[in-house]
Amino acid sequence: MRFLEGEKIYLRAIAKSDVNAEYLNWLNDKETTKGLASGLFPSTLQELDQFVEKAIHNRDVILFAICDSATDLHIGNIKIDHFDWVSRTCELGLLIGNKSYWGKGIGYEACKLTLNYAFHSLNIRKVALAVYANNQAAIGLYKKLGFVMEGSLRRHVYDNGEFFDKHFMGIFAEELK
Ligand SMILES: CC(C)(COP(=O)(O)OP(=O)(O)OC[C@H]1O[C@@H](n2cnc3c(N)ncnc32)[C@H](O)[C@@H]1OP(=O)(O)O)[C@@H](O)C(=O)NCCC(=O)NCCS
Repeated sequence: MRFLEGEKIYLRAIAKSDVNAEYLNWLNDKETTKGLASGLFPSTLQELDQFVEKAIHNRDVILFAICDSATDLHIGNIKIDHFDWVSRTCELGLLIGNKSYWGKGIGYEACKLTLNYAFHSLNIRKVALAVYANNQAAIGLYKKLGFVMEGSLRRHVYDNGEFFDKHFMGIFAEELK
């Protein structure tokens, strides 16, 4: 069932049937998880199943499957969570797991759909996220969308012999490009 319709992709609720070897591969792929908190320890199908099960039954996490509009292929996930319904804020997380879809505007489209949904359907005022300084693709994507760099934890995360800053970025509805 399509929930948010874009041009190249649509977003739908994640389902238990999405838990498969392909999805698991995304989480064990070093290139994909380089800029993520996950990936340091091996993921298993059982853990993935529990993660999806939890997300499905938790209204505090909205986890979408990103699907190719032409083929229905599940190519990644995008989520919003950590809702504060008083300050009207939440946090965004994104993973295009199928690497053949990188650099084709999918991340941009998925973020636009999710941010518009957060701002206009959920009445969220501001969306925040954390991104590591070694993830230039993600930083470029978030800047293109209109996210503003708000602060950093210096040399905070370790990756392959180096320490990188952890940046915090945020966007208000009127800043979305
Ligand atoms: C980071 C990620 C989400 C980017 O998604 P994507 O679909 O490849 O990005 P898009 O094609 O929509 O690109 C949008 C913009 O991001 C920037 N960008 C994308 N890839 C880039 C790269 N390799 N280097 C620098 N900037 C890049 C560009 O500004 C681009 O705009 P442009 O095409 O007009 O130049 C994707 O590579 C991914 O899921 N990586 C693994 C998980 C991850 O790092 N998630 C983010 C955690 S914070």
